[in-house]
Amino acid sequence: MPLHRNTQTVAAGYDSKAHHGSIKPPLYSTSTFAYHSAQHAKDVHAQYFSITPPEAGADPAYIYARLDSPNMAMLQARLAVLDGAEDAAVFNCGMAAINAITQAFLRPGDTVLHTKPIYGGTDGLLYSHLTQFGITPFGITDPLDADSIRAAALSAAAQGRLALVMVETPANPTSGIADIALIAAIAAEIGERQGHKPIVAVDNTFLGPFQQNPLAHGADLCMTSLTKYAGGHSDLLAGGVSGAAGPIHQLKQLRTLLGSHLDAHSSWMVLRSLETMHLRTERAGENARAIAEFLRTHPAISAVNYIGFTDPQSRAGQVFARQCRGAGSTFTFKIHGGEQAAFRMLDRLRVLHMAVSLGGTETLICHSATTTHFNVPAERRLDVGIDDNSLRISVGVEHIDDLIEDLRQALESV
Ligand SMILES: Cc1ncc(COP(=O)(O)O)c(C=O)c1O
Repeated sequence: MPLHRNTQTVAAGYDSKAHHGSIKPPLYSTSTFAYHSAQHAKDVHAQYFSITPPEAGADPAYIYARLDSPNMAMLQARLAVLDGAEDAAVFNCGMAAINAITQAFLRPGDTVLHTKPIYGGTDGLLYSHLTQFGITPFGITDPLDADSIRAAALSAAAQGRLALVMVETPANPTSGIADIALIAAIAAEIGERQGHKPIVAVDNTFLGPFQQNPLAHGADLCMTSLTKYAGGHSDLLAGGVSGAAGPIHQLKQLRTLLGSHLDAHSSWMVLRSLETMHLRTERAGENARAIAEFLRTHPAISAVNYIGFTDPQSRAGQVFARQCRGAGSTFTFKIHGGEQAAFRMLDRLRVLHMAVSLGGTETLICHSATTTHFNVPAERRLDVGIDDNSLRISVGVEHIDDLIEDLRQALESV
């Protein structure tokens, strides 16, 4: 019987026998690695620069820490197991991982399909940067509807080779759900038609490997900002991509050229944090549900976009049941009274912290329009439902009574 994820997250990727019995992984703080002989030097270079990935179980070929390192390798092995993948590549932040995916799989003249809204950094990369290289992005209006996805995919394929589909589900910050299996099937259909299968990459940052496994639903790549729930303590930045050995090998080789490897210390920290990720996400999830329930009945609140409240009969509810094993702990809610009321409430908080980001042990809250979406033109922001009443909360692992009491006293100002 395969080991449960909760066991693998403590054990996978590290064997104490190979490290003098040290029960915890050593930190390999080095920039370069000595060769055993001139022939060994030639062999490891041949292995590293091969266009095919190394055989599973092959001795690692460490050369220089920008190429790969023991601490990155341990984290990559553990992340791959948790995501249900052959291999994984880690990067110095989530955006570096997304950037590597676009550079590896897109060429001038190509088109990209994406769900809406998509994380601001990804949006900027697609609309402000890659357009300069002749790459055109196309948004999907309804990522739960086959006709809507197919229409966007056909428009994209009519303009150029559709080479990449970027899916973010649940979406940041609206918690909108996309049907990964449906999008992957339509991407395969377009692939047949144009003679090149688009890569389907899913941003799994909001739920992470314990609550959603995009590869099991037909995605080619699962990307995660490890800065959030995997790192889990708001004290580092990291990113990961999991998938089949071939594309991951390609991403690792490109990472060497981009210089976007994850340093040994951060790799070691994320490996350690993964050991408690299931406990943290479980507790944060329970707290999030209790806060969402509290907010739902509060007279100062007009809406709570918590995916745990999705109607099970709706299309989103059915996809949620099939695709997700939890509702996460980050969601948006709307307050009556716009920016002024939101600011009054935020300034009264004593336990919750006002900051961007998510997935830490502490609860974070921010006013989306004036922080995470400050630079997004109002029209595009409103198009995806982010108005002056919207607040995003990332619920942590504190005692629930303290969190609710803090929100209750702060909402008295509204
Ligand atoms: C959904 C999502 N994807 C990607 C990123 C980028 O990750 P990083 O900040 O680690 O570069 C973020 C960051 O907030 C995010 O929320």
